[in-house]
Amino acid sequence: MVKLHDKFFKPFISAEEIDRAMTRMASEIAKDIGDEIPVFIGILNGSFMVVSDFVKKYPKPCEVTFIKLASYEGVKSTEDIQRLIGLTQDLTGRTVVILEDIIDTGNTLAEVHRIFKNEQVKSLKIATLFYKPEAYKKDFKLHYVGIEIPNKFIVGYGLDYDGLGRNLPEIYQIKQTEYMTNLVLFGPPGAGKGTQAEFLKEKYKLVHISTGDVFRYNIKNETALGMLAKSYIDKGELVPDQVTIDMLEAEVEKNTDANGFIFDGFPRTSAQAEALDKLMESKDSAISAMIALEVDDEILVERLIKRGETSGRADDADESIIRNRITEYYNKTAILKDYYSAQDKYYGVDGVGSIEEITERLSSVIDNL
Ligand code: IMP
Ligand code: MG
Repeated sequence: MVKLHDKFFKPFISAEEIDRAMTRMASEIAKDIGDEIPVFIGILNGSFMVVSDFVKKYPKPCEVTFIKLASYEGVKSTEDIQRLIGLTQDLTGRTVVILEDIIDTGNTLAEVHRIFKNEQVKSLKIATLFYKPEAYKKDFKLHYVGIEIPNKFIVGYGLDYDGLGRNLPEIYQIKQTEYMTNLVLFGPPGAGKGTQAEFLKEKYKLVHISTGDVFRYNIKNETALGMLAKSYIDKGELVPDQVTIDMLEAEVEKNTDANGFIFDGFPRTSAQAEALDKLMESKDSAISAMIALEVDDEILVERLIKRGETSGRADDADESIIRNRITEYYNKTAILKDYYSAQDKYYGVDGVGSIEEITERLSSVIDNL
């Protein structure tokens, strides 16, 4: 991992892979150009490394020159392209190949085409080592593309983040959500999970994702996933894990600038825990901890019976039903306790005491993650 200014980057494309793409482009271009002597034009600053390596691989005589354009500020492309150094030689009748490090929105490329509009070149070809198809907004043809990449900010091999990273021989991709605190919150019925989730959400500015709420929301709003889930529920079948994960993914995606998430009601099986790990990994993040509130059975029974007296919840009224729910909780969560323990992520927290005492204990776990 590398840190440039305030941001972190992870390895993404190796020097070997870059080399293979460059070799392939050089031979394709050489084949197409034949015996003519082309003029390769690099777009500074980013393309200096591409051009240097490219021309070393070019098997025949060629000329090399540069123009200098600037469009990027921080990690965003801007419309406003500055022409810092223009063409300095007559290209009439020449075969010109633009060598770009990366094509993102295509704004820079539009400027390149403006520059060549009045030049009487024989042909103008565009070659780029990297290309972000999801970001590209123009329709200029790209004649040679080395490697297509997703629409995420990268550095290395000539590409910079505010001046840094150009010297790295391989490509690194920005890590956007690495410092999230993502909690899986567990607790037997009556442990005070709801109360504590509210508190943690406030204190750590986390987004609380209760699977039950997410289901109700999707079904009520008749989202595609909600309708799909409902079709299983209506048949009396379990909603497949993938549908639930897709709903959670949509929630995570709505909140990518969050400090993290509290998952409540999910996962319930180790297959679901694995799916959740994969989801978080795809967001450059991870589950930080499973926190389980631990409360002695007798105390839970006592609390729930008391709650039943005022809440009127039928399932809180009957002691044997209560004991059943508690037993079921332990049967179901034992597997998850093992799953997260194996990753050193299981934290049991004593759930007996005042609300403040318990929040204090939870905070000390989270603060030490
Ligand atoms: P475009 O004008 O949006 O196509 O962007 C082209 C220019 O933006 C490139 O020549 C780079 O200087 C810069 N750029 C685009 N994407 C990235 C990136 O992921 N990392 C670093 N620079 C980039
Ligand atoms: Mg560039």
